[in-house]
Amino acid sequence: MAAPRLSFSNVTALAPMVRVGTLPMRLLALDYGADVVYCEELIDLKMVQCQRVVNDVLQTVDFVAPDDRVMFRTCEREKDRVVFQMGTADPDRALAVARLVEKDVAAVDVNMGCPKEYSTKGGMGAALLSDPEKIEAILKKLVTGVSIPVTCKIRILPSLQETVSLVQRIEKTGVAAVAVHGRFKEERPRHPVHCDYIQAVARAVSIPVIANGGSLDLVKTNADVAEFRAACGASSVMLARAAMWNASVFSSRGPLPVETVMEDYLRYAIRYDNNAFNTKYCLCQMLRDKVESVLGKQVQAAQTNAEISEAYGLQAFYQQTQDELQARRDASQGGGQPERPVMDGDVTTMAVRFERREYPPQITPKMFLLEWSRKEKLEQPQYDTVQRSQDRSFQSTVTVAGRKYRSSLWEKSKKFAEQASAIVCLRTLGVPEGRIGEGESGLVCKRKREGRADGPAGADRRKRPHVASVLEETQSNGGPGAV
Ligand SMILES: Cc1cc2nc3c(=O)[nH]c(=O)nc-3n(C[C@H](O)[C@H](O)[C@H](O)COP(=O)(O)O)c2cc1C
Repeated sequence: MAAPRLSFSNVTALAPMVRVGTLPMRLLALDYGADVVYCEELIDLKMVQCQRVVNDVLQTVDFVAPDDRVMFRTCEREKDRVVFQMGTADPDRALAVARLVEKDVAAVDVNMGCPKEYSTKGGMGAALLSDPEKIEAILKKLVTGVSIPVTCKIRILPSLQETVSLVQRIEKTGVAAVAVHGRFKEERPRHPVHCDYIQAVARAVSIPVIANGGSLDLVKTNADVAEFRAACGASSVMLARAAMWNASVFSSRGPLPVETVMEDYLRYAIRYDNNAFNTKYCLCQMLRDKVESVLGKQVQAAQTNAEISEAYGLQAFYQQTQDELQARRDASQGGGQPERPVMDGDVTTMAVRFERREYPPQITPKMFLLEWSRKEKLEQPQYDTVQRSQDRSFQSTVTVAGRKYRSSLWEKSKKFAEQASAIVCLRTLGVPEGRIGEGESGLVCKRKREGRADGPAGADRRKRPHVASVLEETQSNGGPGAV
């Protein structure tokens, strides 16, 4: 059964906020009681180039740019609550973007309030407010072109009458609601919000009006939301800064300590592999005047979500989440398959993973491969590593004696991906890789029997033929080429 259309009547919404309104913040706002969550503004030109990718590991849908950046990540939990906000000045491009995301979001919104030059110089954001024909063209195209509700977010115009007339024209396009940020486009966030303008608009139209702009002086906690709504005579309320500082403003159970909110946020950031710089940015907004505290400095110095987790004492949660994601990654890649070489083009592949605990401290397969290559008078192994966008995991291909080896499993770090490719090479060639207990497989014992103190490669040099002949041998025996 199709989900009911998202209603904008009597709701409290998380406002669109660049850098803040990414998936972890939206889910957090929903947990605390927001009815509707807007994503950060995404520019149509960038979005039209994106590909929709289902991410089985994170269980998300990602919209990925040609440079592999995830521009928009969403998931089932927010599907019937999330509004996709775009920056646009072009009806056709707006429609193309709306159609791209239509199946994964509850509504689309057009930003008509951003006063920043990067928006207005392209005719987007607040520039649209002085071009009502363009507004109509964009909104009509969207309303007739997609099956989900369409909304827009404006700032107020210099007079009450102009503001009301504009919103009446907007209503006629068939939009489901209009959000009104009660400030003139020249006004800064510290200026008082003009509730009287929002009230006049709310009286003049019959679609839901979403009042916005009350964070600084009117809405500090959840108890203030109803008052702000009443002061504006609006159907609904949209909160930006109050939510950015403490998302529990959506909770009727009173504000939670910001420490709790930061932890809840971080758990989502870890779970959804949020970009670490974005995670840091949001946490710093929550820290506010505590950004120079010990914790604040730790957060600012952190480079990865793992390091941020340490600052909050969430290492165990981080590790557990990584293990769970890895298990899903393995399952989706057929990691349960027995290890056997398979040719993928000219690359010998195996489903193997580098497990640190399987090797003595200081010992790695890469070291063994390097050592062995030296002893065989081969060129140093060459590692070529790629990172994929959807979960930012790595895969490495090592070239040894002109042959390529790679693990078919993707690894969380570049280092581990290289180790995994070294393992594939060593196992294909039947060369020891330094694993604990390898002796039990006969390899170490064999070296010991030969009385070698100079490591496996020394023994191998005498016992094993040259790498090229090993390969010929393996292939003619039904080795990598044949399996
Ligand atoms: C960090 C930040 C980013 C913002 N980004 C957007 C945006 O992407 N789209 C938009 O329409 N408004 C954006 N805004 C404006 C807010 O949505 C909102 O209109 C404004 O902050 C007033 O609401 P408030 O008083 O609840 O903060 C942003 C505001 C902030 C603080």
